[in-house]
Amino acid sequence: MEAARIFLLIALFALSFSFSLGYDPSPLQDICVADKYSQVFVNGVACKNPNQATADDFYFPGLDNPGNTSNKLGSAVNLVNVEKLPGLNTLGISMARIDYAPYGLNPPHTHPRATEILVVLEGSLYVGFVTTDNKLFAKVLNKGDTFVFPIGMVHFQYNYGTTNAVAFAGLSSQNPGTIRVANALFGSKPPISDDVLTKTLMVDKKTVDYIQSQFQ
Ligand SMILES: *[C@@H]1O[C@H](CO)[C@@H](O)[C@H](O)[C@H]1NC(C)=O
Repeated sequence: MEAARIFLLIALFALSFSFSLGYDPSPLQDICVADKYSQVFVNGVACKNPNQATADDFYFPGLDNPGNTSNKLGSAVNLVNVEKLPGLNTLGISMARIDYAPYGLNPPHTHPRATEILVVLEGSLYVGFVTTDNKLFAKVLNKGDTFVFPIGMVHFQYNYGTTNAVAFAGLSSQNPGTIRVANALFGSKPPISDDVLTKTLMVDKKTVDYIQSQFQ
């Protein structure tokens, strides 16, 4: 009885795994170091010859260094994805160091291909995500606290404190992708037409033009 139940659970787990198409596919070989010179377009990046792989293909130094937060937002993200760490290719994982000056903001954005789990190492952050029915899940995090942002949800982190803050995050894709909501709306090239933006935001053309000018 108990064994049958466990078997059913395992079968369900395996099924849900094979159907979770929103995540990076599982690797079919031990290593597939991204070959940045390959002209072949595949889902992911083509592998370089495994006989030519070296330890350095799986190595990325320097995450002890703070990012430069001297910018309008007061934050800096160092995302270590497959572009920076070729050994991540096909492994479905990446990571980031995020630095926040006092009152620095990592503005509302989504990762279309990854869930993100974040831990605060220094300072305090107000973080949150918004679901598809516009429900906000938000919380203040202190040193040592962890929070998860589910795949695709719009989320943010804000350092409301007077000291620097530092967080590290793990992401469930070799290439999570980042869409910043404001940049997508107001910083696209070419710009989205005023007709679309005035109606979307229920403001006049002057306001739209002003906001667009901030993203040039
Ligand atoms: C940080 O960025 C600012 C603005 O781009 C620049 O002026 C400054 O030199 C940078 N600081 C460091 C330490 O790189």
